[in-house]
Amino acid sequence: MSAPRGARPDDASAAAAGPPPPATARDIALDVLLRVEGGAFSNVLLPSLLRASELDDRDRAFTTDLVYGTLRSQRALDDVLERVLDRRVERLDPPVRAGLRMGTYQLVEGVAPHAAVSATVDAVARAGSARARGFVNGVLRGVTRLPQPLTWPEGDDVGSLGVSTSHPDWIVAALVDEFGPATARDVLDADNRPPGVTLRPRRPDVDPDALAAELEAAGGRVERGELVPDALIVRGLGDPGRWPAVREGRATPQDQGSQAVVLALDPRPGERVLELAAAPGGKSGAVAELVGPTGLAVGTDIDAGRTAMIARAARRLHLPQLSAVAADGTLLPFRPGTTFDRVLLDAPCTGLGVLRRRAEARWRVLPEHVDDLVGLQRELLRHAAPLVAPGGRILYSVCTWSHGETVGIDEWAAAEFPQLVADPADQPSAPWRRHGRGALLLPGEAETDGMYVLVLTRADDAGG
Ligand SMILES: C[S@@+](CC[C@H](N)C(=O)[O-])C[C@H]1O[C@@H](n2cnc3c(N)ncnc32)[C@H](O)[C@@H]1O
Repeated sequence: MSAPRGARPDDASAAAAGPPPPATARDIALDVLLRVEGGAFSNVLLPSLLRASELDDRDRAFTTDLVYGTLRSQRALDDVLERVLDRRVERLDPPVRAGLRMGTYQLVEGVAPHAAVSATVDAVARAGSARARGFVNGVLRGVTRLPQPLTWPEGDDVGSLGVSTSHPDWIVAALVDEFGPATARDVLDADNRPPGVTLRPRRPDVDPDALAAELEAAGGRVERGELVPDALIVRGLGDPGRWPAVREGRATPQDQGSQAVVLALDPRPGERVLELAAAPGGKSGAVAELVGPTGLAVGTDIDAGRTAMIARAARRLHLPQLSAVAADGTLLPFRPGTTFDRVLLDAPCTGLGVLRRRAEARWRVLPEHVDDLVGLQRELLRHAAPLVAPGGRILYSVCTWSHGETVGIDEWAAAEFPQLVADPADQPSAPWRRHGRGALLLPGEAETDGMYVLVLTRADDAGG
């Protein structure tokens, strides 16, 4: 879809002049935006392009902000562009559309207009739309001439909130219906705040204070977690895949919401714990740290490639007690009667709680996905339930807040599994809110991802 780095298709003499100049931040950002339109995932593609680039740390941070900011703000940016354009943004050619959105994002964010406009026009031309130079330049200049500062509708109605916070109407409407307009606005605003990297220091041997000091000495800004006190929130150090502590297995990038899910499961040293649908293994790794060398953590996932990530996590973290098994959670390869002390089902879901982390996801998730996923979540829970030993704990979690995937699953489980008891004392407490028999942590309430948790205990004398 996009031209190779730095190529100038309109300039035949460029080939004769030697290799093209290295790609700029805007070239890379535009390339990612175009490929995301084609179905790529920005959080996978962007880090790999940045690793291969010659950009310095400052430009990497700028590129990251350009990509994620432009994707998140898409609806608000289109609203601005359509004050200048004589047609809908959707009707523009992809490189022009992506360039205009990226250029407008810079203008909204206060990049000097001359740099924002001319460098974006150049990037669009290098991406293969040299003939659109004049058009892109004219539209972006038009944006600079709009009354400043730019404003968006201020009302609390669905349409205004959708434009001003840049979300599709159906997500806004579902939030307002479920939690009211004030909480809905808090969640929508939180979706637009870029998260720092959160680390889980390896338990029990890595001291969070010593790790924080190491990261600060490397130039990072580090805060302790409010929800999970051992967690470290790190800013200003770029790609965590390059940090020694992560490479050497002394820490794992993992949001506090996910860390809190494992703490609610409460695995104890020496226990046998199963996680279904476990890849890439963030939670299984945390479980393995807690059960220790005398315990067993088994992480299963239907996707063999992703299951390999669980095995890699086990090696990186030096956790021989963590085993990875590629298997459909509805066809698990265990002997009849096999049980575990604890079972975790962190089910596939719409991911509405992690929109701040997956910049394009809000435009891809559709309301009908909720019902499809509820069917799968029920099937996985139906197969997970008999695998917990009498007296043992089973935890259902999802990183979303949709009614069907949270309270809906809880109501279904209450009717389907009378032997699984939800003790209020086992559910996480504030800042989590009671939600059915379980607990919900909305994005923004503790600057974490949004999570729903339902902790169930199998009555001692129950059958599967
Ligand atoms: C929310 S992710 C799990 C994340 C994981 N708990 C972690 O913290 O790293 C859900 C996973 O469910 C897997 N999955 C989807 N359908 C499945 C099925 N029928 N059986 C097993 N795994 C499935 C997906 O491949 C995906 O890796």
